[in-house]
Amino acid sequence: MFVGDSISKDQYESLICILHSAVPNTNYSLSTSDGKIDIFELTEYGIKVMRNQNVYLVDLVQEKVGHVLRLDSIQGGKLWLGIDVLVFNTFHWWNRKTWDYIEFRGNYVKDLDHIVALNIALRTWAGWVRANINPQNTTVFFQGLSPTHYNGSMWNETKADRCIGQTEPVLGTKYPGGIPPELAVQKGAIESLSDVIKFFDTTNLSLFRKDGHPSKFNPNGATGGVDCLHWCLPGVPDTWNEILYNLIIA
Ligand SMILES: *[C@@H]1O[C@H](CO)[C@@H](O)[C@H](O)[C@H]1NC(C)=O
Ligand SMILES: *[C@@H]1O[C@H](CO)[C@@H](O)[C@H](O)[C@H]1NC(C)=O
Ligand SMILES: *[C@@H]1O[C@H](CO)[C@@H](O)[C@H](O)[C@H]1NC(C)=O
Ligand SMILES: *[C@@H]1O[C@H](CO)[C@@H](O)[C@H](O)[C@H]1NC(C)=O
Repeated sequence: MFVGDSISKDQYESLICILHSAVPNTNYSLSTSDGKIDIFELTEYGIKVMRNQNVYLVDLVQEKVGHVLRLDSIQGGKLWLGIDVLVFNTFHWWNRKTWDYIEFRGNYVKDLDHIVALNIALRTWAGWVRANINPQNTTVFFQGLSPTHYNGSMWNETKADRCIGQTEPVLGTKYPGGIPPELAVQKGAIESLSDVIKFFDTTNLSLFRKDGHPSKFNPNGATGGVDCLHWCLPGVPDTWNEILYNLIIA
């Protein structure tokens, strides 16, 4: 099961396409459970691949005061029990203030530095994993952050219009824009759980792929967006899945 934002959806769709193309003649089904979990099933093989949309991992709830992001609450975790392999991701929504308040240990604040909030939430999540996951039954991965390519200065092409017209990866071995600071926060927050959680670091390789986004060919282009955030499946998400597969069988 993939849990996270729409980046997890890219990876889920990539994986089900890979599986289907490996066994094109077997029966498959696509369904949704409670509107919260997408399920792809290869019935003959008894395999399910699932996706749970949950952008912060901790809970965003409606209270009298408005929308509250509860950094110390993770009721959404009920949906993650009893799964063989869990792959988590959270990153893109921490910069989007979708809450009226952030709550932590009973204190409410209007806002909090997004890196601080992410750090607290990931520690809550790590605590949930420690308390609820038996490593003998479940393998847990945390996926590094998935970078965007909206700013050409990050790859020394100041005149670039976002990722439009990019046809090659950034060349070389060092990404000029550097590694986003949130990655260190993610690694730090789950360090103490390295016996239970495997960090599946997709950040570095994805940073180089300024050519891998839907760009102006975004199927949701009606919303006016140039998409340099999601990925075309046959590139980056397929690579993540190849790596994930090797980590699972290792
Ligand atoms: C984990 O697996 C063991 C056997 O392998 C089983 O006895 C136990 O109930 C499982 N625990 C959970 C939480 O599923
Ligand atoms: C792009 O990045 C550079 C260097 O970090 C920064 O100075 C500039 O403001 C950014 N441009 C935009 C449009 O965000
Ligand atoms: C990008 O530009 C900086 C500043 O001019 C330079 O130090 C760096 O070597 C360049 N990197 C690449 C990959 O071209
Ligand atoms: C990122 O990838 C480059 C090229 O393989 C490598 O030299 C560098 O050490 C990597 N950095 C991190 C933080 O993994």
